[in-house]
Amino acid sequence: MKRLETKVALISGASSGIGAASAIRFAQEGAKIVICDIDEAKATSVVQEIQTAGGEAIFARLDVRDESQWISAFQVGVSKFGYVNVVMNSAGIAVPGNVETMSFDDWNKELSVNLNGSFFGVKHAFKNLKEKGGSIINLSSIEGIVGHPEYAAYCAGKGAIRNLTKSAALHAGRSGYRIRVNSIHPGYIMTPMVGNDPVELERLAKLHPIGFLGEAVDIANMALFLASDESRFATGAEFVVDGGFLAQ
Ligand SMILES: NC(=O)c1ccc[n+]([C@@H]2O[C@H](COP(=O)([O-])OP(=O)(O)OC[C@H]3O[C@@H](n4cnc5c(N)ncnc54)[C@H](O)[C@@H]3O)[C@@H](O)[C@H]2O)c1
Repeated sequence: MKRLETKVALISGASSGIGAASAIRFAQEGAKIVICDIDEAKATSVVQEIQTAGGEAIFARLDVRDESQWISAFQVGVSKFGYVNVVMNSAGIAVPGNVETMSFDDWNKELSVNLNGSFFGVKHAFKNLKEKGGSIINLSSIEGIVGHPEYAAYCAGKGAIRNLTKSAALHAGRSGYRIRVNSIHPGYIMTPMVGNDPVELERLAKLHPIGFLGEAVDIANMALFLASDESRFATGAEFVVDGGFLAQ
């Protein structure tokens, strides 16, 4: 039996990077996938890749900042596959700026996607999962645990996601819902968010004791564990996958 055979996973930010790798990895393990993103062209190619490999996936347009689009994205998933029992909040942006120079517009731009988007994702996941249970996976970061001087709003949002996760996990337990909520804290991962400047990638690799940068599939494999029933005793917890970055 495949590890996610009974799962239907709705993944935000699934057109690219960690979200796309997780969608593909989950589908390999038997999950049906609702690919959610604002980038329809890239989403369509992820859907096709999954279908070509014999898996099942559908695209649902989702701007995570707009609560009404969360409702319609879940409707797309439920009408196609019958239910949704895994939700992964991977959509994110990284707006640079230290606390002294950052404009309020940039602060809001960052938090509207990363934090408000995750709030809507968790809220609507609860609505859809509370009857039969399931798993919610939130993408935080090493920068939800330690600071980065030039990404004030990113750090603020990722720290907030870390503790939103715990609040939601406690609410689920207290309410008797079989919903688990956990956060993943990646180190630097080679995705479009980090870019492809070789000098910068080499500098970043040196920050990780393991000596290299992660790939999206390294985070997808942790998400796979959290999506599966193998992690049935894990909730409200932080899963660090960072090549030793935070061990220093
Ligand atoms: N790459 C890293 O080094 C790293 C490290 C730690 C945490 N993370 C987190 O992992 C998550 C995924 O990052 P990634 O590296 O795969 O980035 P990415 O840029 O490859 O993918 C992000 C995806 O989010 C989508 N997106 C952006 N705004 C959106 C919106 N308003 N609504 C819906 N979708 C939207 C983009 O279209 C894109 O497909 C993010 O939350 C990021 O902060 C990444």
